[in-house]
Amino acid sequence: MMTLRIQANNAVKTLKESINPRWYPRFHLAPQAGWMNDPNGLIWFDGYYHAFYQHHPYAPVWGPMHWGHARSRDMVHWEHLPIALAPEGPEDKDGCFSGSAVSDGDKLALIYTGHKFHGTPCDENLYQVQCLATSHDGVNFERKGIVIDTPEGVHHFRDPKVWQEKEGWYMVVGARVADIGEVQLYQSDDLHHWHYVNTLGQSDEKMGYMWECPDFFPLADKHILMFSPQGMAAEGYNYRNLFQSGYLVGKWQEDDAYQIEQRFREMDHGHDFYAPQSFVAPDGRRIVMGWLAMWESPMPEKADGWAGMLSLPRELTLDKKGQLRMNPVKELELLRGDCRRWQVSELTHQTIVVEQGGQPIEIQLDLNIPLSTAEQFGLNIGQGARIYVDSQSRRLVVERHYPQHELSGYRSVPLPDEERLTLRIYIDSSSIEVFVNHGEYTLSSRIYPEKDDRDLSLFSHNGRAVVHEAHAWYLNA
Ligand code: FRU
Repeated sequence: MMTLRIQANNAVKTLKESINPRWYPRFHLAPQAGWMNDPNGLIWFDGYYHAFYQHHPYAPVWGPMHWGHARSRDMVHWEHLPIALAPEGPEDKDGCFSGSAVSDGDKLALIYTGHKFHGTPCDENLYQVQCLATSHDGVNFERKGIVIDTPEGVHHFRDPKVWQEKEGWYMVVGARVADIGEVQLYQSDDLHHWHYVNTLGQSDEKMGYMWECPDFFPLADKHILMFSPQGMAAEGYNYRNLFQSGYLVGKWQEDDAYQIEQRFREMDHGHDFYAPQSFVAPDGRRIVMGWLAMWESPMPEKADGWAGMLSLPRELTLDKKGQLRMNPVKELELLRGDCRRWQVSELTHQTIVVEQGGQPIEIQLDLNIPLSTAEQFGLNIGQGARIYVDSQSRRLVVERHYPQHELSGYRSVPLPDEERLTLRIYIDSSSIEVFVNHGEYTLSSRIYPEKDDRDLSLFSHNGRAVVHEAHAWYLNA
């Protein structure tokens, strides 16, 4: 019998033939063809890192959600596997929405949201339920059906993240109760039977109407509640994207309420980072990956037969100021090829081309802030994107200008207090990820340079820029 899963795998195979590779990532995970959004079920299981993701295999637009699947030995080189879940049961007939994975003895268990309408698709007819599927080989999954039904009066109830504690399994789920975003906590002894424990966090009038993709985990001596609120209004430089992703810091113990100690802060400050999910590597590192795109963004790669990609895996730490730091996982160094020193220590009203062509690259650029007098100085990526210090606003800016794709504008973060600004920058075919001062801030944005518009140049406008360090690695990707 031709199941929906087989049909979906065939569709991807066919669509893949006609991909235009111009913006297809060389060292990030993206769908082979069709659409990708949130990372799902990130886990280390049986010798591999597994990444599942929200996937529409039939076209590069959002549609009935499947779970795409890839695995990797090192989080850097990914191997595509058959689609793990298709919307083929009555419980998930309109989509297998986001969720997570746990290893349960020798089994890999996926816990995800079944999305279904009872009647015509509209909010009143929407029912979201939490479902389970298990596997022995990490590739083929057996559906176990609904494990938590929709609570009375709630329609948006999704994105379960499960983990294990002494007392058994816990799950956080996002919910929209009236127009309040919530993260609810559930508990279970066997992954099949769950009971509601309490609500870990809830929005006030500024924090949106729905909290998607919650995650809850210990870091240093705190507990982080990470989630993606919908409906927050922009405030100055903050919350500029359609939806946000961010975190609260607090204290938590089993059987107690979550004591929130610090207000919401954004995870990433670029144009494109959403629905991050974390997992633990075998050596104990807490790692996070997000969707490197944004809802309702034009995503020009749709014209090429695919849409959406995941961020690089980032190691999470919590600093003394209560700020999450994200740094690229050390495995990314495996990609480094030739190191290229850019012989530039100072620029005065200048633009100097440092690389030609568009090879995937990692850049280390250290700038001296107090000694630099230029109004703007930094790095150009072709004509369309810039990463630069703006001295008047004292901010580090990531700017893109692709009016032909209706993508123009900037995002920025304050300059750190130290005199040295340290930037680690990864550039792939259609993305930049900037790690500022060892992960104090990150800015991740999609870029769409034309083939002959990928030269890198350093520049200073109206004054001098002092460069401490400027080198790059070509990445073997
Ligand atoms: C977040 C999200 C989730 C949902 C999924 C659907 O981007 O809206 O809440 O499960 O995407 O694809």
